Amino acid sequence: MSEKAKAAAELISKNLSLKYDAAIILGSGLSHLADQINIIATIAYSEIPGFPESTVPGHEGKLVAGILAGKTILALKGRFHYYEGYTMQEVVFPIRVLHHLGINTLILSNAAGGTNPEFRIGDIMLIRDHINLMGTNPLIGKNDETLGPRFPDMSQVYDPGLLQAAREVAIGSHISLKEGIYAAVTGPVYETPAEYRYIRILGADAVGMSTVPEAIAARHLGMRLMALSVITDLGVEGKIQKITHEEVLTAAAASEPFITTIIKGVLKGNS
Ligand code: HPA
Repeated sequence: MSEKAKAAAELISKNLSLKYDAAIILGSGLSHLADQINIIATIAYSEIPGFPESTVPGHEGKLVAGILAGKTILALKGRFHYYEGYTMQEVVFPIRVLHHLGINTLILSNAAGGTNPEFRIGDIMLIRDHINLMGTNPLIGKNDETLGPRFPDMSQVYDPGLLQAAREVAIGSHISLKEGIYAAVTGPVYETPAEYRYIRILGADAVGMSTVPEAIAARHLGMRLMALSVITDLGVEGKIQKITHEEVLTAAAASEPFITTIIKGVLKGNS
């Protein structure tokens, strides 16, 4: 897998020799952030050897290289989820490609269900920490010591400097930024009321089907990380309603401008 990731990175660099300040993974309904990028090049995932293809509506399957907030960035429009049937190694493949491209700062975004009773639909939550409830881990298997240690530390997954920068940008832009713990489940089902309650009791403020495998692989590689969730529905007793993927996409898209403002502000002041 590491050789494949290196080969994919080499192909990207051969076509596009850039030095990136950061990469951004755009979650469900959040791909409009890419519209703000001053695009240098776009590469379809299908053109990159070893890159899986996204099978979910709302995840386009493109790499966009360009300038955002004065920084050279690579945005991934579309990610790979475990529920699509990919192995965990495939889910985190793009993260290893980013590493081989020399990228050390990664911003992740996702749509999530809020389990914190204070949250409202449309809120943005800065992920302070996570709980892996996927029952598996992308680092299971023989460890590649050239990537990182066998037993990576997870005491500070999300970079304190980036978190602080996000808080400051939110204050300066009058965005009410929530903060909390993200629990990752495999999906593809949304939770039952009993499961939302269980996830809340475990200490999570939001639940979703992504981000944590990527965060684990990124920390294994020693990357600096920040992650944001858009709360697209509520898993709170008395507020649980039927939801569809389309409603999740619509709710995420409605809050996308706030995510964009925060990410641009963080990029401007960092890296
Ligand atoms: N649960 C899991 N994943 C999600 C949810 C949810 O309620 N909303 C958006 N992604």
